[in-house]
Amino acid sequence: MSDPAEALLLTRLAHHRDRLQRQAVWVKSALSGDAHQDCLGEAAGIFVDASRQPWDHALRLDLTQLSLVRDLPGHRDAMAAGEVVNASEGRAAGHLRLRATDQELSRKGLDELVRTRRAFLEEAARLRIDPQVQHIVHVGIGGSDLGPRLLLSALGIRGTHLKIHFAGNGDLHELEGVLSLLHPAQCVVVLCSKSFSTQETLVNASRIRAWMDQADSSLFGQRTYAITSNPAAAQAFGVLRTFAFPDWVGGRYSLWSPIGLSAAVAIGPEAFEALLAGARAMDRHWLEAPPEQNLPWQLGLLDVWNRNDMGFASRCVVPYDSRLARLPAYLQQLEMESNGKSTDNHGRPVAQSTSPLIWGEPGTNAQHSFFQWLHQGSDVTPVEFILVQHPDHSNAEAHRKLLANALGQSWALLRGKTIREALGERVKGANPEWSAEQLAPHRVFAGARPSTLLMMDRLSPERLGALLALYEHRVFVAAHMWRINPFDQWGVELGKSLADDIDRRLAGGSLEGCDPQTARWIRRLAGPGGAATQPTGAGSDLSE
Ligand code: F6P
Repeated sequence: MSDPAEALLLTRLAHHRDRLQRQAVWVKSALSGDAHQDCLGEAAGIFVDASRQPWDHALRLDLTQLSLVRDLPGHRDAMAAGEVVNASEGRAAGHLRLRATDQELSRKGLDELVRTRRAFLEEAARLRIDPQVQHIVHVGIGGSDLGPRLLLSALGIRGTHLKIHFAGNGDLHELEGVLSLLHPAQCVVVLCSKSFSTQETLVNASRIRAWMDQADSSLFGQRTYAITSNPAAAQAFGVLRTFAFPDWVGGRYSLWSPIGLSAAVAIGPEAFEALLAGARAMDRHWLEAPPEQNLPWQLGLLDVWNRNDMGFASRCVVPYDSRLARLPAYLQQLEMESNGKSTDNHGRPVAQSTSPLIWGEPGTNAQHSFFQWLHQGSDVTPVEFILVQHPDHSNAEAHRKLLANALGQSWALLRGKTIREALGERVKGANPEWSAEQLAPHRVFAGARPSTLLMMDRLSPERLGALLALYEHRVFVAAHMWRINPFDQWGVELGKSLADDIDRRLAGGSLEGCDPQTARWIRRLAGPGGAATQPTGAGSDLSE
């Protein structure tokens, strides 16, 4: 049972929901500009406009009050202080420490973190100018891949001759495609795996080791780094150089750790430090700003409101910058692996829906694929537009058009188009035999479709760091409100262990105890001519 203060607030929220939905109050207020004074904010160079969302000042006060009654500040501060907030794994969640200054870390007795950061950034600086190395091959999956890939695509390679390649998928076609372009003697390999037991990473790493051994049996040892919390496993695999990070850094929160080595090589240690500084600035805001002005706090509450009270099952992220094309994939792991939970911190079923589906593509590309669905489809999905005010190219007119598109889409989603407006339009491309009355219903937009605009002045390392930290903290807020643990991921286990079981059966093991349909598949794949028995090329030995 919730306590009386909480029960009262929940009743008030139900009133807000009816009020805002029934009279479309929020749409009127957003269109008139009334919502603006209250729903705008800026922190660490990230400007947020959430005035086109189904909330208002009164609701925000009650949502904020509810988060206070539920002691969000206490939980936040416990995380920042390094307490065990990941109860099911008995660990802290220490990603904030990864971007703390050297002085802050030393004061807390965390000198080892300072040393590791210095060491991996120095190594990055050395690699950037090593004439013997032409290529970095980064191997990892999930949190050991998505962050570095995002950094590379967002910030690009700066001031080094090196090229960075990624291979993470369990499908070796990805790695074979990379290796076909390279010579082992020109490469450095960065094996990223927190656990150093992830099947895909070990399969890729084994293939790379065989590929290097063919050229020179000492190369793999000389040219490979492991970034892991399990250095013993990396050593046993034959890796001589390891950057270890603590197990209280979650995989999807590990971009800031030595997992960022390949990215630091690409963008340079100073830019990597700037990324950390940007995240740190957002951390300070998150830890210090009052709740009503605290952007991650408010956005986290909005996420919960939209999911539970508005019933929106997904959220679409559309960066209007192709350099941020990998952002939706990064956020998918961050949000859905963190908050895709149905059991609360006390082991009970969660009463409400938790993480929405996160999806998206860069604009304007997305306008030519799924925006039709966003505007006129039968489900309402809030959209997050991410804008960069100044481009890093010199065509101001093209950039102006790009931003105009983002603003135009957000406005269109909100305002919609009435049948009267549709009737009053002259339309090209319509069936000439149709009357205006026949056509108009097809051209109606319901409107009242929420969106948020997030903007940074430039796509710099600082701003990217701040943006990603903003998302991390809002995920924490939502998790707190749902009373779930955002730092474990037990849901990934079952499929993995069944895959191991099936693999043993495909390799000739007994089918006893296997479900009938899976057994049929195994017979088909393991039988004559089945994929699992197809002769493999010399380069595709997965046995290790
Ligand atoms: O399967 C999920 C997961 O455990 C993610 O949480 C993690 O980021 C990814 O696999 C990779 O794990 P590791 O870094 O241990 O190889």
